[in-house]
Amino acid sequence: MNRFDKKVELRLPDSLKWSGADRLFKGEDLLPLWVADMDFEAPAPVLEAIRRRVDAGLFTYTELPSSLFEAVAGWLDRRFHWKVDTRDLLFAPGVVTLLKASVRAFTQPGDSVIVQPPVYGPFGEAVTGQGRELVLNPLKIEQGKYTMDFEDLEAKLRLTGAKLLLLCSPHNPTGRVWEEAELNRLAALCSAYGVTVASDEIHSDLILTGRHAPIASLPGMAERTVTFIAPSKTFNLAGLHTSFAVATDETLRKGLDQALGHRGPNPLSIAGAEAAYREGEEWLEACLTYLRGNASLAAAYLAERLPEAIVYVPEATYLLWIDLRPFGLSQAELGELLVKKARVAVSGGGAFVSEGEGRVRINLATRREILEEGLSRIAQALGSVRSSGGAKAGEG
Ligand SMILES: Cc1ncc(COP(=O)(O)O)c(C=O)c1O
Repeated sequence: MNRFDKKVELRLPDSLKWSGADRLFKGEDLLPLWVADMDFEAPAPVLEAIRRRVDAGLFTYTELPSSLFEAVAGWLDRRFHWKVDTRDLLFAPGVVTLLKASVRAFTQPGDSVIVQPPVYGPFGEAVTGQGRELVLNPLKIEQGKYTMDFEDLEAKLRLTGAKLLLLCSPHNPTGRVWEEAELNRLAALCSAYGVTVASDEIHSDLILTGRHAPIASLPGMAERTVTFIAPSKTFNLAGLHTSFAVATDETLRKGLDQALGHRGPNPLSIAGAEAAYREGEEWLEACLTYLRGNASLAAAYLAERLPEAIVYVPEATYLLWIDLRPFGLSQAELGELLVKKARVAVSGGGAFVSEGEGRVRINLATRREILEEGLSRIAQALGSVRSSGGAKAGEG
């Protein structure tokens, strides 16, 4: 049996995804395909390392061991041929924490910060919630694929004088792996306009097709970029709250460190993260194979059962972005249909800063039988809209 088909107890009392869904989505017995956690047991070496640490019996204040930073640097070198000095790494309890700290570190209240929607919601909150001006550089769709709008970006840089751009690479929710040519064009604009880039690369290990290039590894970008990575999405360890920033430039690193402030590491998280980066590669490769299968299955299923839906097959991440506007439902009607009729919890397009109206994001990282059940529930509910005359094929 494939290890990712193994039945594990998912409805743990403290599971946000499973036990929180009914309450948060106001439904009953919902199948959760929302928040970006996987329904797979963590890699065996991670479990063993944490057990060993528990058996040591002491949970006193903890130092960050140099071996952890070496494991992170080794991973970046092996996976991306990116040579990072361990002195350039900062520890943080999460990437959202890092996004928020970067806004505080590199801008002043009232300054403009650029984001590229539709994008992971906390990008917006990191800006508006801290008294900065949110400047939107929406992605555009060309030949069925999301791309960056460089003309609009340049116009906004000129108009607003923004000095910080929050990049999502690979991109959540569209699943794009930015090509080197796209990143070089972005880099050229950031250099020309003196923009610092905070690059959230939390999904960079989850590459389904193509190749991820850390923007900081491109010519001229190390000195203007801080990069955020984590074992959380890669190895399904979000609850361990461990992430890292790579900041080669000393001024940026010091600024970010200061904005992060006090943060005490957790010995179990340290043990788990280090084991993941040192010994998790075999698990990750097997997981990626399983996820590719799930993505193909979902795309084929939706093409057959809901041909009106516009499906953006991910190049990275285990997230599937689907445009359901051809069904002609308002955002509220769509939400109601999915919760009350389909009985699924999926991420609504409204959670992605802007440009998400009428879209949903489905989490594919679950056992295939659960995914099939979820897709079938969605297809049945939307199919009933079609048969009542709502859907308009090919629109949108
Ligand atoms: C792009 C992106 N950044 C950050 C996060 C969350 O990171 P953390 O849990 O480390 O704050 C997510 C979670 O889904 C994400 O998709």
